[in-house]
Amino acid sequence: MMKEHLSTCLLFALLSPVTSLTCSNCRLPRDYDACDVVKNPHRVCRSYGICSSGVLQSNILQCYQKETYRQCEDPNFCHSGDYSVTAAEGKFLWTKVFCCRTELCNLEPLHLPPREDLLPNGLHCPACYSMVGTRTPHNCQNQGNVSCLAYETKCIDYSSMLVFDHDIFDLIFQGCASEDMCALDGKHFSFGYIALINVKAKCYDPEKSSRQIDLKG
Ligand SMILES: *[C@@H]1O[C@H](CO)[C@@H](O)[C@H](O)[C@H]1NC(C)=O
Repeated sequence: MMKEHLSTCLLFALLSPVTSLTCSNCRLPRDYDACDVVKNPHRVCRSYGICSSGVLQSNILQCYQKETYRQCEDPNFCHSGDYSVTAAEGKFLWTKVFCCRTELCNLEPLHLPPREDLLPNGLHCPACYSMVGTRTPHNCQNQGNVSCLAYETKCIDYSSMLVFDHDIFDLIFQGCASEDMCALDGKHFSFGYIALINVKAKCYDPEKSSRQIDLKG
């Protein structure tokens, strides 16, 4: 029994050597495609790191609104998907992430069309928005409904910490969200320089109001 256990361990050790993974590593604030390998050499990730490729557009942080990136990522923070949120006060978060675990598997850049091109999908959700420094008590005052865009098919009730460049915030919002956003419930999530810690995302189906009349249309 003991011997068997030992050999299982040995086999496991042989099958999963501590290999280091090399990933494409670059940040492109404007240009979406060209990643100059001379200026942005590939990086060997720290142990357990995996590769990610992503693109983001958001107005949650004034100083960090658009980026295309490829980098090493902690697998506990990397979740492939299409993430979209529309909250109150015109706040939105839109990001695509691809996570992978083989050599240079994140070479392919991801793209997002301009935010203005996203069309309302006819759904509406209650909305609020509040982001403050941590340990400041705050709540999220409902500010009426917002129109959901494109593949935002869920209403979301969201809270997490947001970490950006040594700053830590408390983020709470309600609004419209994509299903991948809802799937972050109970997880951590990192995209570009932003990390969301202890995500609570409770989602539900919007009420489909057939008698909704769009006066602006
Ligand atoms: C706001 O959205 C919710 C969820 O979709 C819906 O139940 C409610 O009727 C909407 N309220 C208004 C005023 O449109």
